Amino acid sequence: MNKTDILAVLQDWNPWTRELNAGVPRNQYLSKLMGFLKTNQVVTITGARRAGKSFLMRQAANGLQAEGVNKNNVLFVNLEDPRFSKLDVKLLGQIYDTYLEFLAPQGQVFVFLDEAQEVSGWEKWVRSMHELRKAKIVVSGSNANLLSKELGTLLTGRHLDLSVFPLSFQEFLSFNKLELKGKLDIVDKRIEINRLLRSYLESGSFPEVALSDQKREILLNYFEDLVTKDLMRRFRIRKQQELKDLIKFYASNIATLTTYGSIEKYLKVTRGTIERFSGYLEQVYLFFFLKRFSFRVKVQEKDPRKVYSIDTGLSNAIGFRFSENIGRLAENMVFLELNRQQALNPGLELFYWKDVHHREVDFVLKEGLKVRQLIQVCWNVSDLKTKDRELRSLKKAMAELKCKDALVVTEENEGEETLNGNKVRFVPLWKWLLQIS
Ligand SMILES: Nc1ncnc2c1ncn2[C@@H]1O[C@H](COP(=O)(O)OP(=O)(O)OP(=O)(O)O)[C@@H](O)[C@H]1O
Ligand SMILES: [Mg+2]
Repeated sequence: MNKTDILAVLQDWNPWTRELNAGVPRNQYLSKLMGFLKTNQVVTITGARRAGKSFLMRQAANGLQAEGVNKNNVLFVNLEDPRFSKLDVKLLGQIYDTYLEFLAPQGQVFVFLDEAQEVSGWEKWVRSMHELRKAKIVVSGSNANLLSKELGTLLTGRHLDLSVFPLSFQEFLSFNKLELKGKLDIVDKRIEINRLLRSYLESGSFPEVALSDQKREILLNYFEDLVTKDLMRRFRIRKQQELKDLIKFYASNIATLTTYGSIEKYLKVTRGTIERFSGYLEQVYLFFFLKRFSFRVKVQEKDPRKVYSIDTGLSNAIGFRFSENIGRLAENMVFLELNRQQALNPGLELFYWKDVHHREVDFVLKEGLKVRQLIQVCWNVSDLKTKDRELRSLKKAMAELKCKDALVVTEENEGEETLNGNKVRFVPLWKWLLQIS
């Protein structure tokens, strides 16, 4: 590519001549990212497609300007722009040289490489830029293996990762222009919060979906793009129907236990294929597979895994029956929120718990060697039989895992009960999500 062509592409994505549209601020991520930019490390931003990584990078670019960085010191490269032909390390060099030549930045330069995984071997280029202290670099990618196996080691110990999820409930409220100022305000806005919680469960939390009236259409488009671009093309999958069937199967079975064996019978796809495809689905952050808690490491591999979706809206759009299963959607939301917390606190590990009598606890939060908290999601606590079963499981797990902190997330029940001499708290989902319990 010649310099004029490169410059033409860059101009469309950079703040040099006009302001970047960065959307609604996501302050929690942004302040973390701005903090990372003050270190000497390369920053990687990973997360599902459409979660908002590019917008967040733009917010950071704007944030730098607000801190006094000259707009010419920012270089934003969208590697998915189809005008970039032959994506290789050489092109990265040409882009950078073109930028230096035309913009002539003075002082610290910040380079944002959006969707770096498009360029194989990008790690080499980033490593050398970093070593030579030519620029601070932020890269994004929508694949958990952004750092390839062969080259990932080049950046070992040299990068900080920020994993971005679709909107938290707090962010979802602010995307819907509902700002909460203190406790009284929350009381006043209860009805509105409830209405939005329902929409959060039903349509999920992708930023674009949250802001649009065409929710279902957008979600179905996401699904098609994910299947064709991120899965089939990238992993060279030929069995498209099988892949779609598997996705639909997982989407309709969120928050339930699955084994490869049971899927094999149901979908009539070989176990090897299911296992391989499931790995891909995890790698593009579409589904998560939660393992059973065990004090032994070995057992965990064979046990059934609980499947959760990156987005309840996406699951609803492609297979899940919303009205019948709101409790499972709530559980999925709790899982996602726990993952957000885990991203900020990497020492936190998540499992489900189950014993030989099929007693189950939804989430075990482990930190170091200690089980910190047990969480049971029980939507309908007023159904006494259900409540009794859930509490019995909780009681058993509390004793076995020597954990005194137990929580039941409900639709609206709130309060405390004593189990085995230990207190169990009941908190409505919306309060738990907003961390005001
Ligand atoms: N902070 C935000 N404010 C307003 N809209 C947003 C915000 N973040 C994301 N969006 C909307 O969601 C869409 C996807 O966001 P974005 O492109 O940042 O995601 P991404 O994670 O980079 O996705 P991809 O992996 O597909 O590039 C945007 O086009 C925009 O419509
Ligand atoms: Mg992007």
